[in-house]
Amino acid sequence: MNYRVPRTRKEIFETLIKGLQRLEYRGYDSAGVAIDGNNHEVKERHIQLVKKRGKVKALDEELYSKWKASESEEGVQQEPLYRIVFQKHGRPKVFTRPSSDKQKEQFVVIHNGIITNYKDLRKFLESKGYEFESETDTETIAKLIKYVFDNRETEDITFSTLVERVIQQLEGAFALVFKSIHYPGEAVATRRGSPLLIGVRSKYKLSTEQIPILYRTCTLENVKNICKTRMKRLDSSACLHAVGDKAVEFFFASDASAIIEHTNRVIFLEDDDIAAVADGKLSIHRVKRSASDDPSRAIQTLQMELQQIMKGNFSAFMQKEIFEQPESVFNTMRGRVNFETNTVLLGGLKDHLKEIRRCRRLIVIGCGTSYHAAVATRQVLEELTELPVMVELASDFLDRNTPVFRDDVCFFISQSGETADTLLALRYCKDRRALTVGVTNTVGSSISRETDCGVHINAGPEIGVASTKAYTSQFISLVMFGLMMSEDRISLQNRRREIIRGLRSLPELIKEVLSLDEKIHDLALELYTQRSLLVMGRGYNYATCLEGALKIKEITYMHSEGILAGELKHGPLALIDKQMPVIMVIMKDPCFAKCQNALQQVTARQGRPIILCSKDDTESSKFAYKTIELPHTVDCLQGILSVIPLQLLSFHLAVLRGYDVDFPRNLAKSVTVE
Ligand code: G6P
Repeated sequence: MNYRVPRTRKEIFETLIKGLQRLEYRGYDSAGVAIDGNNHEVKERHIQLVKKRGKVKALDEELYSKWKASESEEGVQQEPLYRIVFQKHGRPKVFTRPSSDKQKEQFVVIHNGIITNYKDLRKFLESKGYEFESETDTETIAKLIKYVFDNRETEDITFSTLVERVIQQLEGAFALVFKSIHYPGEAVATRRGSPLLIGVRSKYKLSTEQIPILYRTCTLENVKNICKTRMKRLDSSACLHAVGDKAVEFFFASDASAIIEHTNRVIFLEDDDIAAVADGKLSIHRVKRSASDDPSRAIQTLQMELQQIMKGNFSAFMQKEIFEQPESVFNTMRGRVNFETNTVLLGGLKDHLKEIRRCRRLIVIGCGTSYHAAVATRQVLEELTELPVMVELASDFLDRNTPVFRDDVCFFISQSGETADTLLALRYCKDRRALTVGVTNTVGSSISRETDCGVHINAGPEIGVASTKAYTSQFISLVMFGLMMSEDRISLQNRRREIIRGLRSLPELIKEVLSLDEKIHDLALELYTQRSLLVMGRGYNYATCLEGALKIKEITYMHSEGILAGELKHGPLALIDKQMPVIMVIMKDPCFAKCQNALQQVTARQGRPIILCSKDDTESSKFAYKTIELPHTVDCLQGILSVIPLQLLSFHLAVLRGYDVDFPRNLAKSVTVE
């Protein structure tokens, strides 16, 4: 029986456009849609493409004028209709246009990632007469699959076999989805390094909750045998479909937020999995056994809610996420911190605790904001674990070929769980047999899957490119880890109790800080025309300065620098004068006296410091041009409160300067290339 998708073309376009819009936050700059030709309308099968630079809205308008308008509101039931969407930096990356009438392009590919050997492949294909119309790596994939198809040894080669042969030639990172006019009603997807998931939606019972993986070896020599493999006449037990020939829909996406309004049931593909949908059935096969050696892929149910990825009453996702922090930090601690017994249990780490306690040192690795979360918690981790703690930027860690040993424990901090630099550092540490721990906000992400164990920070989806709530939740996750490690240390019990009490009151204190929003807006009104903004502090709050300055850079495009107050006299002091705006973070902690010293240095040079200080700090406010007074908490948690005014300030500055807060120029939410 034929598989029917119970949807009209109009609904399908809407699904695609919505999905792309939900991914816009990732910071891409063009989008497109490829859609199967339909025998109702055209004699010959073909794939229609619409690509557009700019926002997805532009694509929507283009589609509207091309197709939507011609369809009645009711729509008609369609033949099997698979759809492919893509979104990418630079030029839209789909190439199917015939380069000449004779040489019809018959394959469409959607690619997220980067192919590092594309120049060699291109040279090879050009030598075989293939003509290229762009400089992109993606076009090489489209041409390569065409080449493999044109040179097939046997007529009945399957689509997934073609893809299998293509990816054997590819180096780099990719998530790919292929369509072809030669395989109508089929789509094949695969990944290596870049994320890819399959959403599954069906009103009916599914044939299985665990799809068994088919394995086979593929070499050029045995290609004929491959073509005769079961892939074409797949045994039903190796496929996912709805029971009783009922319809099931599959969605391919690199991020669950693109499909969450249709289904929360997803399958995460492993590197080199090849997933094929044909006749409404999904099958997965691999050439090699996976690193995890799991012989099946499970359908998982995500907890994400649609509402979590909507802006609600806020003007930007970033603003919404800043204001969500009382709940997000609570969610990070939920079910883990027991405030009655003063204990912390991180389920994902408990089986490895002994090993971690015995380690030589902790290495905490990340990029951007995630790196700052590591800087922010370094001191408390050193104190609670009594281990040496190295904090590393993933790219620099790799550049240095840093020595890593089997008895090291390496933490990988990443909101997305997909950042290429962090992922590469993880693989580097794995190769050296260190124990690897992931701290991510994305279930099923590459980092969460490839690490030996980990902590999910549970902050909820973060859409704004500038990370806010993920930072505070990463911070808390690392503190919780320190608390768990120190449970048996008698000498640390008072300190632990103090920190746990501090954690308990955080959500309320965050609300208090958020109530300063108007005051911070007024401050932004004074500052938004400035070109530069320095943020200075030390000790527990050095990371606050780095993170605050990063927020300002990312979304306001002002120059901003996070300065360690201890380094003031070694250079930055030369920048201080009447004009230069300086924000100083001065908290009642062990560095208070030293910060006072820095304050004197600044005022002595006629600097006019804006001071973030504790509510009861009369001393600092005497010298301040302006103060933002914050509630007091335990020294090692103060950075959670002190970063929030800087998040708010950067937000207001960006709005006043007329920039799109959620989509800063040149930046992406998840950087999946090195
Ligand atoms: C990108 C984003 C930053 C983010 C960094 C690390 O550069 O623009 O906001 O902090 O990646 O991302 P991750 O997902 O690994 O935390």
